Amino acid sequence: MKFCHILLATLLASGFPTRLAAEIIDISTPRTSLILDAQKGGALKILHYGNRLNAADIATLGDAGAINRDAYPVYGAYPQGEAALSVTHADGNMTTAVEVTGISTSTDADGASVTTVAMRDKVYHFDLNVNYRTYPGEDVIETWVDVRNGEKGTVKLNRFMSGYLPVRYGDVWLSQLYGSWANEGKLSQTPLTHGVRMIKNKDGLRNSHTAHSEIMLSLDGKPLENSGRTIGAALEYSGNYKLFIDTDDSDFHHFFAGINEENSTYNLKKGERFVTPPLALTYSDEGLSGVSRNFHRWGRNHRLHAGNTERKILLNSWEGVYFNINEPVMSGMIKDIADMGGELFVMDDGWFGDKYPRNVDNSSLGDWTVDTSKLPNGIQALVDSAAAHGIKFGIWIEPEMTNTTSELYEKHPEYIIKAANRPATQGRGGTQLVLDLANPRVQDIVFTIVDTLMTRYPGIDYIKWDANAPIMDHGSQYLTADNQSHLYIDYHKGFATVLDRIRKAHPDVTIQACASGGGRANWGILPWFDEFWTSDNNDALQRIYMQWGTSYFFPAIAMGSHISASPNHQTFRRIPVKFRADVAMSGRLGLEMQPRDMSDEDKAIVRQAIADYKAIRPIVQFGDIYRLISPYDHKGVASLMYVTPEKDDAVFYWWKTETFMNQQLPRVVMAGLDPDKTYRVTELNRIDNTPLSFEGKCFTGKYLMANGLEIPLTHKVDYHKNTDYASRILRLTAE
Ligand code: DGJ
Repeated sequence: MKFCHILLATLLASGFPTRLAAEIIDISTPRTSLILDAQKGGALKILHYGNRLNAADIATLGDAGAINRDAYPVYGAYPQGEAALSVTHADGNMTTAVEVTGISTSTDADGASVTTVAMRDKVYHFDLNVNYRTYPGEDVIETWVDVRNGEKGTVKLNRFMSGYLPVRYGDVWLSQLYGSWANEGKLSQTPLTHGVRMIKNKDGLRNSHTAHSEIMLSLDGKPLENSGRTIGAALEYSGNYKLFIDTDDSDFHHFFAGINEENSTYNLKKGERFVTPPLALTYSDEGLSGVSRNFHRWGRNHRLHAGNTERKILLNSWEGVYFNINEPVMSGMIKDIADMGGELFVMDDGWFGDKYPRNVDNSSLGDWTVDTSKLPNGIQALVDSAAAHGIKFGIWIEPEMTNTTSELYEKHPEYIIKAANRPATQGRGGTQLVLDLANPRVQDIVFTIVDTLMTRYPGIDYIKWDANAPIMDHGSQYLTADNQSHLYIDYHKGFATVLDRIRKAHPDVTIQACASGGGRANWGILPWFDEFWTSDNNDALQRIYMQWGTSYFFPAIAMGSHISASPNHQTFRRIPVKFRADVAMSGRLGLEMQPRDMSDEDKAIVRQAIADYKAIRPIVQFGDIYRLISPYDHKGVASLMYVTPEKDDAVFYWWKTETFMNQQLPRVVMAGLDPDKTYRVTELNRIDNTPLSFEGKCFTGKYLMANGLEIPLTHKVDYHKNTDYASRILRLTAE
């Protein structure tokens, strides 16, 4: 069934009072519709975005009161309002006035349908295409624009948003993510009030630490997880962004999203084209979780690299040994994770550097040769050791960076980002520098780093691609003086070029996007990356909050989630391994510690957790999320579940977030099950001496979704094993 279709209907005057006729474009997905009016010679108008409309609804939309605003406002006549596009034409004219010249549809290789509304300035040879893409079966519509300069000279692009959406004024709430290093993905939910709400990033490289380029808008007041009309928006971009909502005196909250244009004026030469990144929009009347499910499904099927392939359970070496890498230690870790049932070992930072060995964080980036004093038998010995233990091997690199203390920088100081006539600002370790990916020569170097590793060691299964610096100076030694304002954008164009080449040459290697922890959780990079590192903070309690927020927009399969040591290396909190495992098992499970330091008892718990995770992995990694009780509501418990699309299998997570005596916790009502199916309950990762009262018992989906199960506040364990933590994972299998 083809869901997106273009309906070029002529509607008569009654429905659309301001116009005599309209050419209606109906961009519908299974449960949503975007209705546009694109009459040739007129303006492109948006009439509706929300639930799916049928032909009768569309015909009477005007009578009901359609949105009827410019679908992509440009800066021109009546410049008082915000515009999505603002340009200075070749002759200095700062106004633009476009009209529709044509509509076309095409189907791309992915089976997606693309509708393009072509517009041209009424006076200038300046073309603006507004594009909409839908995928069969997905409730996401992507929109982006491309502009082409056909004028006699250079046109300056001053603002070039990917998309605009007017949202009917009302009790609309904004859900957004904010945070910082080691505290990423925090959720903020606030009502929209008059004025401008802006979310932006200017890091240059890592765009998801302090804010995120994804939002949700709850249209029916305070956001609810499983009910309420909700719009989701995600800008698919790896660089600087700007999202803002202008609530003015009109009937609308005006939402804009795109590349952050600050200090990034783009000079478009005659004949050149500029394409914005896509903005993904979705709508659900099943609340915030409904929007998440739409994003997750679309992302896994069409955006995330290898989104339908199970991810391996891994041990990463960073918190276990930091820079203290050597062959016996690596081999020991390989053996230990294999013994616990893991499937992959990843050697993190510290394995490279010849003239300058990488022993701390102040040298060697760019010199990707093995430090043979640490690894006398090289990388191949570790690949072989992993293979001998029946697991795979992965490796850390930070290819976009160098240090002043490196052979690369000594030979090629011209490759780094720096402002003219000023010394380069140096980052991590007091010496880190960013390579200028706007420069095609640098693009070659970065490609070659990965290509050489993969060609020499085809057994490498996984790359952790790190990036631990922002763009610290606005200056490219490659770009011409008049195009310095292109740096932020051309860096990311270069990044995409490199990643395209890498994926063409090495389609099967799993690549993690890491950037000082969770600095690169965005849909802009995930077409090339299989997952992202969620945070450098592995504290299980804080992870509940961070992963809750991150799950708003990103599926569990992409969210690296590791069991780390206790006391935790960031918060120094002591958390029993059972709780740490129960949290990590709600994402892409891994370990981040030195197994040698674990007690046998903890190892046994982790071994069990890994075995259990293997059983539920398809549900977690490919299932639908239903968030039940938010940690941000401070009810003492947080809970969510994943359910298979067929609703025949589900996993329920319950984590106590605080402990007090005689605490009153809410009983958690489930969601997403089939009311008519009967589910058998099995507890996973069980540590209690006696099973729960409902262990092995059957309940209908209807009962579970109306009543839930009574979860005890504590675990029934030997007295000396009691702690202040409690958590449960229940598997619900349809009979
Ligand atoms: C930052 C990452 O987030 C960490 O996981 C680790 O890989 C270090 N870099 C290594 O330097």
